[in-house]
Amino acid sequence: YKRITTKTLVDMKKKGEKISMLTAYDFTMAKIVDSAGIDVILVGDSASNVMAGHETTLPITLDQMIYHAASVVRGIERSLVVVDLPFGSYQSDPKEALRSAIRIMKESGGHAVKLEGGKEVKESIKRILNAGIPVMGHLGLTPQSIYKFGTYTVRAKEEEEAEKLIEDAILLEKTGCFAVVLEKVPAKLAKEVAEKISIPVIGIGAGNGVDGQVLVTHDMLGMTHEFNPRFLRRYLDLYTDMKNAFSQYSTDVKSGDFPNDSEQY
Ligand code: KIV
Ligand code: NA
Repeated sequence: YKRITTKTLVDMKKKGEKISMLTAYDFTMAKIVDSAGIDVILVGDSASNVMAGHETTLPITLDQMIYHAASVVRGIERSLVVVDLPFGSYQSDPKEALRSAIRIMKESGGHAVKLEGGKEVKESIKRILNAGIPVMGHLGLTPQSIYKFGTYTVRAKEEEEAEKLIEDAILLEKTGCFAVVLEKVPAKLAKEVAEKISIPVIGIGAGNGVDGQVLVTHDMLGMTHEFNPRFLRRYLDLYTDMKNAFSQYSTDVKSGDFPNDSEQY
């Protein structure tokens, strides 16, 4: 695929091709992720944790999300760029949701928005879609509701919540979402959802029965090393590698080893 579109993703599901998705919040990272052939780049509100050091995703603002998204868009050639609508930018009413989505599309150049929730945000999703803006859903563990959940543990283990999740997934498809993220739910339930709906289901901590996977890039690179959920596969231990590089640099500066004769003018 030359350029990934929302339609590409739906076609990939039809053909049984898995979708790869990673987060990025800046130009340099986005350029590397894009050039590696990752299908979807998510400008996640996890930037609130990863970039800004907040404990939750709640504090990040729409302006800050737009800054991250615009930086990512300048780095990509092929990937589809999906931008999270941050907490507070869409929950109060559908008009505000649309205004926020329009700002993201206009000011960042992103290709789609993502928002958390099912039935509760249906009217907002409709409104955004009516303006021609593609919407990705997000169900299961929705971190913007962390104070309601009270914990980051796996969601929908009980029948009642599992049933609501299935209903919400069906509703998101019917409303017109092009894909949905399922976060931290039992693999069996996620597989059932992926079989029930024809739009791609992208999992994080949702097992292998879904249509694609997403991870937070800084986590899979091992840059964040305090965060150790079972679903996280670490491809590098960059925390250690970077720390060693920084300390070697410091040693070299202090010993006078850097710069040497060929590293100066
Ligand atoms: O913000 C984020 O990084 C996300 C993914 C974990 C799906 O929403
Ligand atoms: Na998010």
